[in-house]
Amino acid sequence: MKVRTKFVCQNCGHEEPKWLGKCPACGKWDTLVEEVPVPEKLQETYLPENANKAVPKPLSTIVEKDTERLSTGIREFDRVLGGGVVPGSLILLGGTPGIGKSTILLDAGMKFANRGITTLYVSGEESEEQTALRAKRLGGRTDKLLVMTATDLDGILTQASRVGPRVLVIDSIQTMYNSEIDSAAGSVAQVRECTAKLLQFAKTTGIAVLIIGHVTKDGNIAGPRLLEHMVDVVLQFEGDRSYSFRILRALKNRFGTTGESGIFSMEANGLVQVDNPAGLFLENRSENVSGSVITACMEGNRPIMVEVQALVARTPFGLPRRTSVGFDFNRLNMLVAILERRLGMDYSALDAYINVVGGMKVNEPAADLAVAAALVSAHKNMSVPRDVLLFGEVGLTGEVRRVGAPERRIADGINLGFKKFIIPRGKLTQKFTGVEIVQVGTLAEAMQQVF
Ligand code: TYD
Ligand code: MG
Repeated sequence: MKVRTKFVCQNCGHEEPKWLGKCPACGKWDTLVEEVPVPEKLQETYLPENANKAVPKPLSTIVEKDTERLSTGIREFDRVLGGGVVPGSLILLGGTPGIGKSTILLDAGMKFANRGITTLYVSGEESEEQTALRAKRLGGRTDKLLVMTATDLDGILTQASRVGPRVLVIDSIQTMYNSEIDSAAGSVAQVRECTAKLLQFAKTTGIAVLIIGHVTKDGNIAGPRLLEHMVDVVLQFEGDRSYSFRILRALKNRFGTTGESGIFSMEANGLVQVDNPAGLFLENRSENVSGSVITACMEGNRPIMVEVQALVARTPFGLPRRTSVGFDFNRLNMLVAILERRLGMDYSALDAYINVVGGMKVNEPAADLAVAAALVSAHKNMSVPRDVLLFGEVGLTGEVRRVGAPERRIADGINLGFKKFIIPRGKLTQKFTGVEIVQVGTLAEAMQQVF
């Protein structure tokens, strides 16, 4: 039996049988979203079988089972998962198209298979030959991995039940089709119902299911985002396609923390783990020029050094421009205002540009001090010595505020040869010798130390 879908206005809740650009009830544009009434039998199975017969019991009487984990064989991947894939769990891997989602899961699939963990890799996007070709490029042993090209979810689950793998990979959820629902593959309704079915499958069979989901640039496609509450783990694969580095993050993890991240580099023969990410972006660092400052940002629990560049140029006419790549635009405006008001610097007739080198996106306030220093350096046309590392949040009164994990940032900076550290005032739990550590309370003090 086909299930009829309806279109519901996300603003006022008005329902229409067909899609319309404008809601006839409230008059808002582009608010109608396809929804499907969830079949009742599916709704029940969101919970484990015995959930309806449960009785309350004291927490202390519950013996926790040691969760078994299947290691993916990729250290950086395991790190993000919290040790490996938990059997019976549903994992969603999201990311923009072309970032490397198929590559990493195919690689993990081959590594599982080679260790005797039967794995079925289902692709709805590529033919079996294409998958084989990619596997060959990745250079793993490929004979043990089961692959299949299909999009009909019922057929896939029938085959999966027949071969009984311990891990099932679905590439991607947007190509899957559940014939019970009367809408196209990739629509909100299909994506949601296919995921519900896969969830039920994972929980009843104990097979770990890894789903790939495409996310558009703005990240809020009618797809993965709406699945986040249904799955056990949400992983996000990020990076800029013009650069080779990739970051894997956990946005949600029912079996571990979300603090860790994995760092990879996309090479000709697949994804390569980065062993020492701290210095990854310093390789092509510019020599003593004005406007270049290094800071230490936390990526998960590990510091990464990034180069912040600033350029100021006379505004030809009218309003000065502010442009920022890799750093929050509003924070840049705020820092310029702080420099003007608290340090008496004048940017009113200057365009100011900020760029974080290497395609990194820095969204930690700890980078404030480096951005401010880069702006001052560019303005005064004075370079910051190459062995100085700065980090700290800058407040509106021009004060420099503490940030997390200063010891780890310093320790990694020392390993990379930095000699002078300009950091916020506060107690350090570790002593560092042989380097100069300057604790500052205000932006003015920090700038005195740099220039
Ligand atoms: P892919 O895994 O297909 O991305 P997704 O599944 O997220 O859409 O990877 C896409 C890009 O990765 C592709 O454009 C080429 C590049 N790539 C390499 O550079 N080296 C490789 O070994 C592989 C397999 C892909
Ligand atoms: Mg793909």
